[in-house]
Formats: sequence, C-alpha cells, structure tokens
Amino acid sequence: MQRKDLGSEGLVNKQAESLTTNIGRTLDSLFAAGKAVGEDGSEFDLFPIGLRLPQGNALAGIAAREGAVRTIESGFAMGISGLFLMKATMETAPREAEHFAIDPSEKSYWKNAGLCAFEAAGVRDRLHFYDDNSEYVLPRLIEKKESFDLGFIDGNHRFEGALMDLTLMQRVMKPGGLIVVDDTWMPSVRAAIQYFIENMGVTAVTEYGDDPKRWILKRLFGSKSVRKSTTSNMVALRIADEPVELPWNAFHPFSIK
Ligand SMILES: C[S@@+](CC[C@H](N)C(=O)[O-])C[C@H]1O[C@@H](n2cnc3c(N)ncnc32)[C@H](O)[C@@H]1O
Repeated sequence: MQRKDLGSEGLVNKQAESLTTNIGRTLDSLFAAGKAVGEDGSEFDLFPIGLRLPQGNALAGIAAREGAVRTIESGFAMGISGLFLMKATMETAPREAEHFAIDPSEKSYWKNAGLCAFEAAGVRDRLHFYDDNSEYVLPRLIEKKESFDLGFIDGNHRFEGALMDLTLMQRVMKPGGLIVVDDTWMPSVRAAIQYFIENMGVTAVTEYGDDPKRWILKRLFGSKSVRKSTTSNMVALRIADEPVELPWNAFHPFSIK
C-alpha cells in the first residue's frame, strides 16, 4: 500500500514536471511570436497589454517565494500573468495548484486567447475562469468562502475599479496573504492603493515591488524616471494576519502621490 502511494506521488510529480515544462514552452513560444492567438485564429499583440517577460518572471518568483498554491487574478486577457502564476504554483504544489481568473472581455474581445494558451500548456483543468466583471464575480467567491494565497490585480485600472478589486479581493485572501497590483505608473491605481494602505491595515512588501513612500517621485518626475527594476511597476500588499475591524466611522484621509 505504502509502495503504491509512493508510486502515485512520484507519478503526480512527474506529470507536474512535464506540465511546468509545457507552461514554460508555451510562454517561450508566445514571447517568441510576440502574439497570442484566439480560438478563431485572430492574433493579438502581447505588448503592451500582457505582462512582459521580466515582470512575468518576477511575479512567478514572488508566488514561489510565498509558497502560493491557490492564486486569483482580475484581468486575464491573453493569460500571460496567469501562466506565470500557474507555473510557479505547479512547482510548489503539483496536486493542489489552481488558478482563478476573471475577465469580462475574454470571449468578446480576446476570442478566448488566454483560455487557448492554458489549453496549449495542458493546464486548462487547473483554471477556474469567469467571463464577467470582477466586481460581480468576487462577491460570489466571498460567499463561497474561497481562500487564496496570492492575488494579482490587473483589471479595471480606473480608480474605483482598482479600489473595488482591492476591497473585494482582500476578502478572499488567506490571513497574511499577498495581493500584487500591476501598473503603479497610473495615478488612478496608485490612489486606490494609497487609500487601501492608509485605511485597511495592509503593508507594502518593498522587497517584492514598489515602496509607496517613494511615489512622490513618480508624480514629480514621471514613472519612467524611477522605473529601475522589473517590479518597479507593481506593488505587493501584505494582508493583515487578523481581520481588521474598523470603527463604523473610520476614515483616514489619504495622500495622492
Ligand atoms: C492589462 S489587461 C490584463 C493583462 C494580463 N494580466 C496579462 O498579463 O496577460 C487588462 C484586462 O482587464 C480586463 N478588465 C477590464 N475591466 C475588468 C473588470 N471589471 N473585471 C475583470 N477584468 C477586467 C480587460 O478586459 C483586459 O483584458
């Protein structure tokens, strides 16, 4: 019995190994072509919408260091960030790794290019996909008491969109989980994050991304002038270990940088 269990464990690891290799190959060929392909043959330029290779590797590195197993993202598009996350979690936990992704334009605009990429990588069955707005999907996941180790926000980049994603995604994160937010070059995104940090008990993990205390530089000199590392366009927010109970009238005025 024990021998058989060990055998099946070995098989799972072997399968996972070949799947992570497949994911890597799929990402390589997407980046080599610079294009993703939809189910009807439509082609989409990877740039500037999808994560670039160094940023994708950085995101996967964060997921690996966090030991993330269950991940979620708002803004799936061609599935680039999703594949990087999936690659990291498959390496960490071959049996349990799962990715949840939300995007209302996946079929209508992207012609399911992201789903096709997951299919090509052989990990479509690890993906829970919602072709809808995150502000409608996340409450359903909260209700189902889903719990994630790492969230990635790259969906509606307007102030209220980013704030809704942060507010709702926080409620499906495990205590001490991490939410990575892309595109801190955008003042709307920075404002939502700033509100969140100053009001919701989250802290920025500066070894993984931006230090919001330095965002004044982005405002004064433009984001390109301070973009130095692969993660300097992202911020990583650590969720508190204990649920934050705010007084009914709590509000800390927040600075917009
Ligand atoms: C920058 S792209 C995401 C790129 C993707 N993360 C990647 O690296 O490949 C932004 C995506 O967010 C989606 N989006 C816009 N509003 C959204 C919303 N309310 N909920 C979820 N996704 C949304 C758009 O349809 C678009 O595909």
